[in-house]
Amino acid sequence: MSRPPAASTDAAPRSVCPPELEIARLPSHVAVIMDGNGRWAESRGLPRVMGHRAGVEALKSTLRLCSDWGIKALTAYAFSTENWARPGDEVNFLMTLFERVLQKELRSLEQEQVRIRFLGDLEGLPEKLQELIADATERTAGNDGIHFNVCTNYGGRRELVRAAQRLAQRAADGELDPLQIDENSVAAELFTAGEQDPDLLIRTSGEHRISNFLLWQLAYAEIHVTDVFWPDFGPEALTRALLDYQSRQRRFGGLDPISP
Ligand code: FPP
Repeated sequence: MSRPPAASTDAAPRSVCPPELEIARLPSHVAVIMDGNGRWAESRGLPRVMGHRAGVEALKSTLRLCSDWGIKALTAYAFSTENWARPGDEVNFLMTLFERVLQKELRSLEQEQVRIRFLGDLEGLPEKLQELIADATERTAGNDGIHFNVCTNYGGRRELVRAAQRLAQRAADGELDPLQIDENSVAAELFTAGEQDPDLLIRTSGEHRISNFLLWQLAYAEIHVTDVFWPDFGPEALTRALLDYQSRQRRFGGLDPISP
């Protein structure tokens, strides 16, 4: 694989993949648990929600870096099914933030050929947000750039239960023989259907947990945990995560290392 060109015709200059990374061995799909927004804000004497606002900037910059460096898909955990338990003000702030980000960024996502999808129980979100999501999904569906998946009202266990229900319904309707159900049939009923599994999971702010994120899809992902709070996650932290990934031997349960 050759290095992508250093500059494009778009207004924002493209970032060049750092030379210490091997382009041919970059992960195709990176997943991120963007943790530490609240602590980032509190450590600066700011309200927690300011951390979420700063987190959006970190996400935009990570998306652009991944796209520029040749990574094919980025999946971010924006709001879990458990996050409804947070104080009402914080939940409302986050929903409004998602709406504003979509309104403000859609044009540049379209221009940069990003294909955006929202994964999760979207019908549980405010109606206006659902409309913006439907519009953004439709307007970027034909784009051939990076796949940007935003997990919103997403829970890994709920996703698996939903997949089981859908398969059971098809079996009850006589469309599917239960004995024919295999890993491909389950994967096809997940929100991520059609997307390759993540190769690398990055979690910021030091916790060593999966927190109900992509339980099925992360089966063989390499995991990189950094102490950096999400709003401080920039090119250096991404490079460290990718170098860590490139230092691993992936064996997928066998004995021989398998090259990406
Ligand atoms: C976790 O930090 C972060 C979140 C629950 C929200 C993340 C959302 C964004 C960055 C916005 C993304 C927006 C769009 C539209 C894609 P935390 O609050 O759990 O931090 P803490 O552990 O320090 O309390």
